[in-house]
Amino acid sequence: MRPSPRRPKNRKGGFKRSSNSADKRLVESIGIIGLGRMGRCLVQGLLDSKTLKPSQILFMTRHVETAQRVAKELGIHRARDNADLVKRCDLILLAVKPQNGADVLAEMAACDLKGKTVISIMASFSTVQIQLLLNQPVAIVRAMPNTPAFVRAGITAFCLGAHAKEKDALRAVQLFSPVGAHVRVDEKQMDAVTGLSGCGPAYVYVVLESLTDGGIKVGLPRDLAIQLAAHTVLGSAKMLLETGRHPAALKDEVTTPAGCTIDGLMELEEGKLRVTLIKAIVQATRRANRLARR
Ligand SMILES: NC(=O)c1ccc[n+]([C@@H]2O[C@H](COP(=O)([O-])OP(=O)(O)OC[C@H]3O[C@@H](n4cnc5c(N)ncnc54)[C@H](OP(=O)(O)O)[C@@H]3O)[C@@H](O)[C@H]2O)c1
Repeated sequence: MRPSPRRPKNRKGGFKRSSNSADKRLVESIGIIGLGRMGRCLVQGLLDSKTLKPSQILFMTRHVETAQRVAKELGIHRARDNADLVKRCDLILLAVKPQNGADVLAEMAACDLKGKTVISIMASFSTVQIQLLLNQPVAIVRAMPNTPAFVRAGITAFCLGAHAKEKDALRAVQLFSPVGAHVRVDEKQMDAVTGLSGCGPAYVYVVLESLTDGGIKVGLPRDLAIQLAAHTVLGSAKMLLETGRHPAALKDEVTTPAGCTIDGLMELEEGKLRVTLIKAIVQATRRANRLARR
């Protein structure tokens, strides 16, 4: 039977990979506060997809030295300070570590944020906390990207704060779609999103490392084992997304009666792989929730 492809949906609860061309004018200027790994990845996405030109992007970092090197590499300009950046941009991306968030938000609170969209990728910071620190009604979008964004294969979940409108959601889509898929969620789901897709790449790398070691144990050279493991995970994920079928049904198709897969599956069950992965997500979600209350 031929699988029917699952169509991405463009509504709340759905996920989508946008063409990014229709919304080109939504953002005229973006200011990135914090140009570390994630901030830089998003800027690279905007530039590579030609969503924005370097002249439309400003950034701010704590240290001037980091700024000089990055500015040269990406062709973008550093603002004088965070207040200058806020004044000159209509979308402000907060990409500092959560521990620096309160200081940056306090600086922003002194600025007029009317008509601007503030998008935060800071883990655990809720839109209500951000709103309180900004001390004025502001359109806030909270988002959680993940590291496969570096190869344009990320997934970003985002939610809207009380004052954010559809225009702000579209601005978020414009920012995140060059680096992968995006999905709109309720804010109450954000800690769980952090536990699953935010932290998830680390779990998948452990699985990939283990599959590779398994290949080595049965005599494969490391570079071959790693290729086989990576393509197996990539292809299986692609098949799940494109067919829309249940993972159990796809697993059953690989598992022939009295074949070798069932022997391998029995080992996984005995090693409690399923419950271990479930518990990893539960613990990471709890931690995300606690971080927010520190
Ligand atoms: N990495 C991930 O997997 C991931 C995934 C999803 C979300 N996030 C979120 O993304 C955010 C950034 O993470 P990251 O890994 O990109 O961090 P990072 O590499 O440590 O970068 C942090 C950046 O913030 C800048 N900064 C710190 N204080 C500042 C201030 N007062 N004003 C202006 N800039 C300031 C730093 O500048 P200097 O370099 O000059 O100190 C640096 O450019 C975090 O909140 C994290 O929760 C990360």
